[in-house]
Amino acid sequence: MNRHILSIVFAACAGSVMAETPVYLDPKAPIEARVEDALSRMTLEEKVALCHAQSKFSSSGVPRLGIPEIWMSDGPHGVRAEINWNDWGHARWTNDSVTAFPALTALAATWNPEMSAIYGKNVGEEARYREKDVLLGPGVNIYRTPLNGRNFEYMGEDPYLASVMVVPYVQELQKNGVAASVKHFALNNQEQWRGNINVDVSDRALYEIYLPAFKAAVQQGGAWTIMGAYNKIWNQHCCHNKRLLEDILRGEWGFDGVVVTDWGGAHDTREAALNGLDIEMGSFTNGLTSESEFTYNDYFLAKPFLELIRKGEVPASLADDKARRILRLIFRTAMNTDKPFGSLHSPEHYAAAKAIGDESIVLLKNNGILPLDPSAGKRVLVVGDNATRRLSDGGGSSELKVKDYVSPLDAMREVFGADCVDFARGYAAGRPMYAHEEVIPESVQDSLRAEALAKAAQADVVVYFGGLNKNAYQDCESTDRRDYDLPFGQNELIEALVKANPNIIIANITGNAYAMPWADHVPAILHASYLGTMGGASLADAVSGRVNPSGKLPYSIPVRLQDNGAHAFGVECYPGVESESGDVLFGACAPQQRYEEDILVGYRWHDTKKIPARYAFGHGLSYTTFAYGKPVLSAKEMNADSGSLTVTVPVTNTGKRAGAEVVQLYVGDDKASVLRPVKELKGFEKIALAPGETRDVTFTVTPDMLAFFDADAHAWRSEPGRFTLYIGGSSDNVPAKIAINLK
Ligand code: BGC
Repeated sequence: MNRHILSIVFAACAGSVMAETPVYLDPKAPIEARVEDALSRMTLEEKVALCHAQSKFSSSGVPRLGIPEIWMSDGPHGVRAEINWNDWGHARWTNDSVTAFPALTALAATWNPEMSAIYGKNVGEEARYREKDVLLGPGVNIYRTPLNGRNFEYMGEDPYLASVMVVPYVQELQKNGVAASVKHFALNNQEQWRGNINVDVSDRALYEIYLPAFKAAVQQGGAWTIMGAYNKIWNQHCCHNKRLLEDILRGEWGFDGVVVTDWGGAHDTREAALNGLDIEMGSFTNGLTSESEFTYNDYFLAKPFLELIRKGEVPASLADDKARRILRLIFRTAMNTDKPFGSLHSPEHYAAAKAIGDESIVLLKNNGILPLDPSAGKRVLVVGDNATRRLSDGGGSSELKVKDYVSPLDAMREVFGADCVDFARGYAAGRPMYAHEEVIPESVQDSLRAEALAKAAQADVVVYFGGLNKNAYQDCESTDRRDYDLPFGQNELIEALVKANPNIIIANITGNAYAMPWADHVPAILHASYLGTMGGASLADAVSGRVNPSGKLPYSIPVRLQDNGAHAFGVECYPGVESESGDVLFGACAPQQRYEEDILVGYRWHDTKKIPARYAFGHGLSYTTFAYGKPVLSAKEMNADSGSLTVTVPVTNTGKRAGAEVVQLYVGDDKASVLRPVKELKGFEKIALAPGETRDVTFTVTPDMLAFFDADAHAWRSEPGRFTLYIGGSSDNVPAKIAINLK
């Protein structure tokens, strides 16, 4: 028996064998009392054991005290299939298939916080049923470039939109006794070199653009865990970055939860010990069978951490701090006796996925061809690989093993009648694979295209379901897209289809903006993200008009890649510059990157630089139309320290169908001493209107909505003077404008 075990045995013998229920096991006792009680019973070794993985997706509890392990799962669009204990292989369980919910970028496109609450509740029930304690999501990294392979896992380019949308997800998820793990904190805004790129960003851009959604998730959502990002900021990895974790997250925001690494995101014991990391996951596992000893003991926050404490090089109180936070998490989740039981792929979950998908589809353009009336008996040709491809596969850690999947083709046949709907693939996109691409012979692509063109000429109407997919170099973890175009020759295919049959509806599925050189040649464009289990049904319903589209773009769609701010400055700005050669993912090279566009991300760039986007942030049409009346202020002026005022605008449904409009409020400082974007989103409300109905929408404007982050003073500051309130249905269509004065 080693000394460690002996000391535990002596400690146990010293207590009474028949003791009363200890406080930490009393579910009625306050959590903090339970935490302190449990902590007081633990050895140093037991505290350190909490701080690192014990398998690919779990970390230890305190078995001696009956304190359970923590089980985690990806995230964020459903609960991932079980992964092997010690490697990334699928464990091949038969009871772990789930509902795939729409991608977070679709959730953001609903612009409806109620949808976010529904999302969190339903995905939380599945996580609970699968006995997970932590769901690794949601992600709120800001959409900086359309090339980022993981934009589909995030909530778009605007910090206010992402902040409003993340909060209900976190709150409702956690009501299931399942912690959110808001990721990836912070500035993991691209996949290329994500493991060690060093991002240089101004404090102003950090506070105005990149941090607000994390802050909202922590302070308003009450997130119980945060996942550190892979990359570096200020030359220090985010997973043990002092300024990020200690100064900002804990110091400024008062976070009382657990910081988890991204898998393999820890690199240094001393930094991890000192700088606020709590649980280290995924660092290295060489396979239990080939190890002489339990590999996880070699993690930075395992034996090496214990040794630093024993040598007195770091204080033992650090282990107490970490254990305290981890125990708090365990009491909130694994040992939460109040949590519900959860449920899996229930009809309610499918209905929730469908409702979110329905509200997320963005109608970019329509000359009147949409909606297509199913009773008209038209011969419809469906074209495109995404019409049948299961888009819940692939993409990296957000992959899902779905119980059911409704493809667009199935749903189109259901809605329009199997006899009326024919299909031609048009192009081949290769098998779903992670980190690899399949090269398709030209001859195959040629014959698929020829088939589609021949059939298109015979059809009354063509509905095209193309876009990106979840393979490497598309919407996929670990790699960024190589360029801004649709892959597999789709631009040429679409142009040829238009010639064969001008009645073509583009209904592309992507997690990103992409070039649309054919946009002016097609009569209608629907834009959808990955919509999960019920995605095809949402799309077919949008085509038929059973669903009236009400989604709005959560990111701009520039005409050309170089019209995006991150691509206007050369490689230093994106993707960064390698300083040495080496393994680009986790190796020695340390690429450097500077965010030159600074605060001018997305529409802030397009507006301020006067570079119109093809489809602007916030854009999205409906099968009805809306008119904005004159805005009315409660007051023309407000005081900088205490004031507030309201602005009210009447919005009317001027068409013949019921529909929903997202009324957006932007604020701009007309004259400022520092560079300010023309306008910034500060409020929105989605309203449903019957034909002819008018509703007043009122926004309260407060001085903090007019402020910018003054990096020198490290404070938010607003300058007196004139501001313009812009209200409308997209960032480039704000018919209701009115000026106010800040005193
Ligand atoms: C991803 C995380 C994910 C983790 C566990 C990492 O590679 O970046 O988002 O949660 O793996 O699968």
